[in-house]
Amino acid sequence: MNNIKEQFLLNPEVTFLNHGSFGACPKPVFEDYQRWQRALEFEPVQFITKKREEALLVSKKVLAKYIGCDHGDFFYIQNPTTAVNQIVKSLDLNPGDEVLTTDHEYGAMDKTFNFYSKKKGFVYRRQNISLPLSSKEQFIEEFWKGYNHKTKVVFIGQCTSTTALVFPVKEICERAKSLGLITIVDGAHVPGHLPLNLQNIQADFYTGTLHKWLLSPKGCTFLYVNKNFQDRIEPLIISWGYEPGMPTKTKFLEENEMQGTRDFSAYLTAPAIMNFFEDYDMPSGQAKCREVILEQYPIFCDLLGTKPICKVSDEFLGQMCSIPIKTKDPLQLKETLINDHKIEIPIMQRGDEIYMRISFQVYNTMDDLEYLKETIKKLEIMPSALAAL
Ligand SMILES: Cc1ncc(COP(=O)(O)O)c(C=O)c1O
Repeated sequence: MNNIKEQFLLNPEVTFLNHGSFGACPKPVFEDYQRWQRALEFEPVQFITKKREEALLVSKKVLAKYIGCDHGDFFYIQNPTTAVNQIVKSLDLNPGDEVLTTDHEYGAMDKTFNFYSKKKGFVYRRQNISLPLSSKEQFIEEFWKGYNHKTKVVFIGQCTSTTALVFPVKEICERAKSLGLITIVDGAHVPGHLPLNLQNIQADFYTGTLHKWLLSPKGCTFLYVNKNFQDRIEPLIISWGYEPGMPTKTKFLEENEMQGTRDFSAYLTAPAIMNFFEDYDMPSGQAKCREVILEQYPIFCDLLGTKPICKVSDEFLGQMCSIPIKTKDPLQLKETLINDHKIEIPIMQRGDEIYMRISFQVYNTMDDLEYLKETIKKLEIMPSALAAL
């Protein structure tokens, strides 16, 4: 696992334990990205009008195989928030309708739904999922307590941001389907991190990033739309793909892929990503990372005098874990960790709870975690220090 660190562009002076926020792109993939940018600048017209389409198709075929869907059923988009904005804007949601979700969803998604619920008059119902999470059954039972005859849509994250928990989206989508509900899954953290097969999940809409755990350059996400909904999703931007003179692909793809001048380079890197995953045997490196998380999560909780927020099992955890902590000033703690100790790690708030989230990626070593432990012992987040306050 050690020499793989050299393949990343990360600042070697920083102990980087925050892969989850924005990922990190390895050199070979970043070079491929720059190669595409140069190809564009070399012949802007030929590239944008012809060669880009060919490269896009190759990239989409590679990704489609990896995520288990047809390459015609998704398009690339900057980020999951843009994808969810597009979905919610397109859906026929009215006063009297409800969107059922959990109280663990990503803040920007909550904001998106809050915005459109005010505009369109539907209710965004954030069902409480209590912690610690001990079984899938517990989750499923609690989640469906938020269902009623007004529920029209289910929105759910497959791996949450602040709490870093894996939710049983397949089971939720199955039940939602049997109730005739529309399903939207936020899989921002899933591709390259957890096993993903879209055919198996059967969501109506699914968005996942390549720029987190699939290691692509930034701004690379996909939005999958089930064939039944492809005529109902409207592009956020109306451009040349709308009522095209000479269509070359489906209306769904024309409208969402023909969006005027923009840099597609990150979207073309899927083949380079797959080569990197193979060359560096990422699956086995990541399996070791998951083991480290399962082993270290209770140890960090003990150190900080708290308890894990889920059963410590790969059912609920991937390469991240969130440790509940106590601190007077979460923002200051984060700043102290990066400024005084050169540790990049998120300190996040959810209601009254504060979490320190560890991400463990193939470039991390046990020394990184030992250094974090030593640093924690010096800070006012230790239970003994807090007792003295
Ligand atoms: C659960 C979850 N959803 C979505 C996102 C995507 O955020 P954005 O669209 O701001 O890149 C993130 C980013 O961390 C996330 O953790």
